[in-house]
Amino acid sequence: MLNLSIKPRKVSIIGTGHVGSHCGFSLVTQGVCDELLMIDIDESKAKSQALDLSDAVSYLKHATKIKSGNLDDCKDSDIIVISAGPLPEKNQTRLDTLESTINVVKTIVKPIVESGFDGIFIVISNPVDIITDYIWKVSGFSKNKVLGTGTALDSSRLRRLLSEETNLPQQSIQAYSMGEHGDSQIVPWSHVSIGGKPLFDIMKENSSTYGKLNLDELTEKTARAGWDVLYGKGSTEFGIGTALTEIVKAIFHNERKILPVSTLLDGQYGQKDVFAGVPAIIGINGVESIVEINLTDDEQKKFNKSCTILKEYIQIAKDI
Ligand code: 2OP
Repeated sequence: MLNLSIKPRKVSIIGTGHVGSHCGFSLVTQGVCDELLMIDIDESKAKSQALDLSDAVSYLKHATKIKSGNLDDCKDSDIIVISAGPLPEKNQTRLDTLESTINVVKTIVKPIVESGFDGIFIVISNPVDIITDYIWKVSGFSKNKVLGTGTALDSSRLRRLLSEETNLPQQSIQAYSMGEHGDSQIVPWSHVSIGGKPLFDIMKENSSTYGKLNLDELTEKTARAGWDVLYGKGSTEFGIGTALTEIVKAIFHNERKILPVSTLLDGQYGQKDVFAGVPAIIGINGVESIVEINLTDDEQKKFNKSCTILKEYIQIAKDI
């Protein structure tokens, strides 16, 4: 028997609705993990999602083993994805789903930690920044091991919108959305670049075309982009599934990739005791470190405002 140190990479997804199942599909089609466990309060739904995902494997490059199970089965996972909880209704913001999501998450995290799970939590459930803070506190885990998908998805939406405006591919655009994964998120435009060239230089040199970009409107459109998807089809799933997979990949392959995620700020960006979306180095230990880009005074003011909103809701979460 060979004594290799290789061990199957296992991901568990808790909450197998639209978001969880698409996360699973993205992980499986990209061959990112070796074992995938699907868990839901509705056990027959989790079972069906696992079966349906398994039906794709014959045509894929990677023979992922996909099962459904219960909370106790996920203790030997490397990563647990929390995607349980309601999607916001038409008249709700993500923050409005706080109470119902906490009531769901409450029943999940303690048993998992008590079962001996010692890996990384990646949180998707909304309001993601507040729920990530909540899970970090309840789990007692170190801050690098609890992160939220945060503004990873918004950043991709921002790049899509910029791509539509400039007719340049999303992959050549470097741009972050930061702060709340929600209405108060900000775009530090001073750090947006295309092919390495600062957007502000591009705008100055092409005043009749790119110079006409309305950055405030694009910021608003980015924050609203989730609703455009949600209201049209009743859920958002492909974008978040792919963003989640990018984070999982960065962890499993110790890529040290810089991705915007929701992580605990401890003095960075002048903020403390708040989970917010910022660029961070993601590797085998989860959040390896936070990347601090220099914000302009106006960007910093807007970022602070977003953090103030998040802190208010962290207080509200304490009493639920
Ligand atoms: C999204 O932005 C609704 O948070 C979800 O897609």
